[in-house]
Amino acid sequence: MSASFSNFATSVKAETAFTVLAAAKRLIADGKDVIELEIGDSPFSTPEVAVEAGIQAIRDGRTHYGPSIGIPEFREAAAEYVNREYDLSVAAENIVAGPGAKNFEQLFCEAFLNPGDGVLVFSPHFPTYPPNIARRGGRIVLSALKHAHDFRPNMDDVRTFLAEDPSPKAIFLNSPHNPTGGITLLEDLEELAEVLRGRDVAVFSDEPYDRMVWNGRHHSLLAQPGMIEQTVAAYTFSKSFSMSGWRLGFAVSNAKTIEMLGKLTNTALSCVPPFTQLAGAAAMREACDERDRQMGEFGRKVRRLVDELNQVEGISCLMPGGSFYAFPKVAAVCNRLGITSHGLAMYLLEGADDNRGVACLGGECFGEAGAGFLRLSCAEPDERLSEAVSFIASAAEDTRRVQSYLSSRPEYRLANQYAVA
Ligand SMILES: Cc1ncc(COP(=O)(O)O)c(C=O)c1O
Repeated sequence: MSASFSNFATSVKAETAFTVLAAAKRLIADGKDVIELEIGDSPFSTPEVAVEAGIQAIRDGRTHYGPSIGIPEFREAAAEYVNREYDLSVAAENIVAGPGAKNFEQLFCEAFLNPGDGVLVFSPHFPTYPPNIARRGGRIVLSALKHAHDFRPNMDDVRTFLAEDPSPKAIFLNSPHNPTGGITLLEDLEELAEVLRGRDVAVFSDEPYDRMVWNGRHHSLLAQPGMIEQTVAAYTFSKSFSMSGWRLGFAVSNAKTIEMLGKLTNTALSCVPPFTQLAGAAAMREACDERDRQMGEFGRKVRRLVDELNQVEGISCLMPGGSFYAFPKVAAVCNRLGITSHGLAMYLLEGADDNRGVACLGGECFGEAGAGFLRLSCAEPDERLSEAVSFIASAAEDTRRVQSYLSSRPEYRLANQYAVA
């Protein structure tokens, strides 16, 4: 008999993007032509200077343990980088290295939460926030991000959380936002800082798409006076530096919090590989022009995809303020077909055509507040994006095929119609 798993492990829901990615790869291996818009990965190569620096570091023997908090060269380069990009004035002591941004969700919760503490999460939300909050027994309080409010956080909900929750302790903020593409504007950050400053409340500011802001520039809560005392901002090389497989990121906060995150890193990972950090340091110092050219290309692709989606009957899509995702509202299509939005996504991949498919995600993969939407990334070439939109338009008209898909996958039948307005 095998030993039983913990209640926590049994309850964990993993990031659906990886499950759909695996399903898409299986279909591709079987010969299906799948347009892959499911995963938030960059189609560009890692910058050559980073590759060379990583290889050189391996040759130089930087292949052993390093400090848990990060090697000095990396911490200095990251501090210079955020100061240059976001007008901050932090030093190496304000930086801790991590294997991407995701791991900091867990470390943040370990650093600040006791069981039962309230954590405000704007929803739809990145799917790994709930398991990481649950690891510490935190209590999630959801605040809906609304299409009608450009998916910006609702500050009244923040005030209510602070005033009425029995033990408000943390807020998860994510801008540019995955999956909606919404931006927390500078005025929102100022207001948030105003209500939070000086309280025993910590903010996890998840900023992986910081270089994908399509109008104006990115703003971090860290830049608000005093807020570094209460904020842990997480950055990654996965998105704009096209280094998702290197597993590298960093967090910025006050020195005391960074020491704590370094200690917690020690207990979980020991350290991030030094050669990976040296590759990242080279990218931050020497690959910003290349990064900006690629991000310009992404911005153009997002606009193109959104424009084309808006031509499809029953679909309406806001131009995202940032990120490389389009988040079209497909509630009218789902209601007409009697299928959930993730059901629609899976139908497009598996059921709509024997030889072709589009891989994307239903908005409910990011919490109930995302139901009635699809999330499509725009990492494929332009003509493939256009083909995907035409495919979606005609697949959504094939009622007979949808019904036959639903008879084999009844879990995707829509029980209650989505709100359309
Ligand atoms: C909002 C958000 N947070 C964190 C991550 C994780 O990124 P990383 O690969 O740096 O761990 C992602 C990746 O998709 C994301 O969208």
